[in-house]
Amino acid sequence: MALISRLFMVCLPIFFVFFPPWSSPSIGVHSSSVDDGLLLVTVASDETDGFKRYMRSANKYGLDVEVLGMGKEWRGGDMAVSVGGGYKINLLKEGLKKYKDKKDLVLMFTDSYDVIFTGGAQEILKMFKKFNARVVFSAEGFCWPDASLMDKYPEVKMNEKRFLNSGGYIGYAPDIYEIITHNEVGDKDDDQLVYTNIFLDENLRKKWNIKLDTRGEIFQNLNGALDEVTLKFKGANSYLYNVKTGTTPLVVHGNGPIKHRLDGLGNYLADSWTPTHGCLACKEDYINLGTFKEQDYPTVFVGVFIDQPVPFIAEFFEKLAGQQYPKKKMDVFVYNNANFHAKDVKNFMIKYEKKYNSFTSVPPERGVNAYDARNMGIDHCLKKNCQYYLFLEPEAHLDNSKTLQLLIEQNRSVIAPMFTRPGKLWSNFWGSLSSNGFYARSEDYLDIVNSHRIGLWNVPYVRYVYLIQGNKIKQLQGGYRNDHLDHDMAICKTMRDKNMFMYVSNQLNYGHLIDGDNYDTTRTHPDMYEMFSNPMDWEKKYIHENYSRVLMEEYEVDMPCPDVYWFPVLSETFCQHLIEEMEGFGQWSNGKNEDSRLDGGYENVPTRDIHMNQVGFERHWLHFLRVYVQPVQQKVFVGYYHDPPHAVMNFVVRYRPDEQPSLRPHHDSSTYTINIALNTPGVDYEGGGSNFIRQNCAVSDTKRGWAILHPGRLTHYHEGLTTTSGTRYIMISFVDP
Ligand SMILES: *[C@@H]1O[C@H](CO)[C@@H](O)[C@H](O)[C@H]1NC(C)=O
Ligand SMILES: *[C@@H]1O[C@H](CO)[C@@H](O)[C@H](O)[C@H]1NC(C)=O
Repeated sequence: MALISRLFMVCLPIFFVFFPPWSSPSIGVHSSSVDDGLLLVTVASDETDGFKRYMRSANKYGLDVEVLGMGKEWRGGDMAVSVGGGYKINLLKEGLKKYKDKKDLVLMFTDSYDVIFTGGAQEILKMFKKFNARVVFSAEGFCWPDASLMDKYPEVKMNEKRFLNSGGYIGYAPDIYEIITHNEVGDKDDDQLVYTNIFLDENLRKKWNIKLDTRGEIFQNLNGALDEVTLKFKGANSYLYNVKTGTTPLVVHGNGPIKHRLDGLGNYLADSWTPTHGCLACKEDYINLGTFKEQDYPTVFVGVFIDQPVPFIAEFFEKLAGQQYPKKKMDVFVYNNANFHAKDVKNFMIKYEKKYNSFTSVPPERGVNAYDARNMGIDHCLKKNCQYYLFLEPEAHLDNSKTLQLLIEQNRSVIAPMFTRPGKLWSNFWGSLSSNGFYARSEDYLDIVNSHRIGLWNVPYVRYVYLIQGNKIKQLQGGYRNDHLDHDMAICKTMRDKNMFMYVSNQLNYGHLIDGDNYDTTRTHPDMYEMFSNPMDWEKKYIHENYSRVLMEEYEVDMPCPDVYWFPVLSETFCQHLIEEMEGFGQWSNGKNEDSRLDGGYENVPTRDIHMNQVGFERHWLHFLRVYVQPVQQKVFVGYYHDPPHAVMNFVVRYRPDEQPSLRPHHDSSTYTINIALNTPGVDYEGGGSNFIRQNCAVSDTKRGWAILHPGRLTHYHEGLTTTSGTRYIMISFVDP
């Protein structure tokens, strides 16, 4: 126990400086495995996330751990690419000397970065004693590092593993000590080969009564065995089950090239998440920023990376600015490589530059590429001694104004809020990796994306938005560049290689992703055309904020003239953008009866207008009629239903004194007509309005974004009143002609 607490004291991350002492770790050790006669030993040089996960599981089951080599330089070679690990044996020789005469003590050695325990001392010892051995090594299906030794191994039964793996073994202290001191070993020698040679020497094998755990009774090596194991749950307990041998291994080792698959299992193992109790690990290590004074908030460096035009970017910036976090604690860095957005960045700067602690902008003229810009962000963050780094791409909308704070509070090295394209399975993370390092769907991906499982998920890839703790930043320098990978994959690979876990949190709704796939920047206001790709954002921007009230049962739709209804439907922004779109297009009709745009080539009551199909908006407009107008029509003209609403005449009319100021009395060839005011009488123009002649009633005080809905054909003979100054714009549809 003393060992454990000392370890955590020494390794407290730099946050300790910034956070009050009450928030220091409260690792509860439930019982002591040394009292039962079992001591765990491991070798680790850094307190990586993998190491923390290992310690968490050890603590969970009350296992006492002695850690060797912590803080020392690793001298055992790079084991990810080659053999190595003799250094481990040399550390053990020194560290275990003191136990060499403890006849009753059982030592268990395991690796740490890629190991999770799923059981306690009593279960482990019980299993060990069943072997009737002095020492038991874990086993795997590959004969490594010297395949030529294969035939020297004793035969095993079907479904059992034949070859020794040195990532886990257990035995009586004196025997273990003799084994590790049997040979002189170089730091860069292969430890697995050293143990293998001892095991394959029949005399030595007998001498220390060494056996292999061929059935996974204690140790489960995952490499080559992923299909053989499955997760099981029992109340607040989660464990692994080997379907081939019917065992429930107690030490799970993500050896070899499949480490990230252990990360996936690690989301559940050691009671991290269970179906009945949900995310138990989420409640651990939580930082409560709510108790902080504003001046004590940690500093956050925000890097924004705009590579190409993206819809709704003004809204993106507003949501960033709207984060409930002291701006004086934030440094903002905006890289923009899209001329199209120069104005948006400038607007954001003008409004907020002074409010932030610092503001840096890298405009398109600098010609910085996407990789270098991202690496630059990391460098700037380091220069500022940032305590957190928030990475953002403009597809990521921080809808929740507390997102930044909530991410900090969840206290993980790297954490991304789960963002999806609304209603889609497209998200900002991958559940798993294919063997060549690309996307693979994990078994739980859908459950996570659909929030059927709520928690904190260790995943191999995140993008668009994530928060990195400051003490990890240094290791990521240059990490966005890789000769073979795009910057997004490169940084994730860097993080994985550094044993830095990337978590995705779906504990709350934090925001969503924009779909930038079909963004047509040839339009004056491309966002207006995003109705299909980004319906939620489109609605927020372009539908009148009070429209939803119109549909409420108790709402009575205004009726300014008999059977003429009136309701708010489009936002001011829409009205403005549509006018500008039309004026930008500029090809207003000449107001003559001959009209080549029409099937018959003839218009009986011509106006100066532009049709929606001339600006590529017809499909959008029909959708608008169906989704937003039809429900109101059904409410006011009960019993009429025609789906979808059909309309071939959809256009914007321009009235002005020097062009066409009015329109003579006529019937519309429609079942009903909608007429939306795009600007404001008394402000943008004088006069104007619709006069319903039979009803002897005019609507002149029209409101911007409000639609007038009236019957066509027989009953509502009407005229357009004279616009006496300025320009009046209206948007007309003849529905169901
Ligand atoms: C944050 O998490 C680490 C473990 O990763 C823990 O040691 C630390 O105490 C936590 N910070 C706070 C303030 O709880
Ligand atoms: C929506 O309704 C509220 C309350 O009647 C009003 O204050 C507000 O101005 C309306 N919004 C718009 C855009 O007209």
